[in-house]
Amino acid sequence: MRITVDNLTFGYDYRTVLKEISFKMNSGDFLAIIGDNGSGKSTLVKCMLGINKVAPSQIFLDDVDVTNYKQFLNIGYVPQIFDDFNYEFPITVNEIIHSSIMRDISQDEILELLDKMGILELQNENINTLSGGQLQRVFIVRSLINQPKLLILDEPTVGVDRKNVENFYKTINSLNAEGISVILITHNIRESNANFSHVLSLHNGEGIIKEVPRGDEA
Ligand SMILES: Nc1ncnc2c1ncn2[C@@H]1O[C@H](COP(=O)(O)OP(=O)(O)OP(=O)(O)O)[C@@H](O)[C@H]1O
Ligand SMILES: [Mg+2]
Repeated sequence: MRITVDNLTFGYDYRTVLKEISFKMNSGDFLAIIGDNGSGKSTLVKCMLGINKVAPSQIFLDDVDVTNYKQFLNIGYVPQIFDDFNYEFPITVNEIIHSSIMRDISQDEILELLDKMGILELQNENINTLSGGQLQRVFIVRSLINQPKLLILDEPTVGVDRKNVENFYKTINSLNAEGISVILITHNIRESNANFSHVLSLHNGEGIIKEVPRGDEA
């Protein structure tokens, strides 16, 4: 998915969080967003997702203004925290994933995704028995189930152990190599072996984008 952010200014109430942010992404790019706590990383992706309402002509998804965009199924999103999520609700991993399916998909495809994320054996578990990192991986499978063109992951490896973090980045790198654009918010850019193409750093509301040579472990 192509993304254009053009002079985006956004705030909550009277406080400006993002000031005149501009950058472009091409299909297949892999963007890391970094910045201190409160620098506006989550705010920025919520603007791209239409969750935060922005003024027209500031964000374009495949050349369509986000204020008119209708194809949000093209975007897989794993939020930073699941504030509105009831972790005690009695529902299994399989049920949560099946409830999100919006296309024809074979059982094999679902099992393959669960296997890729290392949670195949958890499919019949109740979600309230899972660890935070396991639940995170369930949400990642859920975000991938409708074959998104863009994947937005807001600090997806918090609470995931080292071995699984490595596996996670391998999976994300291979999805990206297949052509899915990825935006990943992270605090540990040096620890991750993600194959970023660009890094956007947010500081005092301003954003600076840099291209990263591909193949380099950012
Ligand atoms: N819904 C909201 N209403 C009002 N203010 C908000 C809201 N969401 C975020 N903010 C404020 O906007 C600023 C940026 O928050 P944001 O969550 O985007 O930062 P972040 O870079 O994602 O931080 P973190 O690394 O802690 O996740 C913060 O000062 C935060 O308090
Ligand atoms: Mg955040």
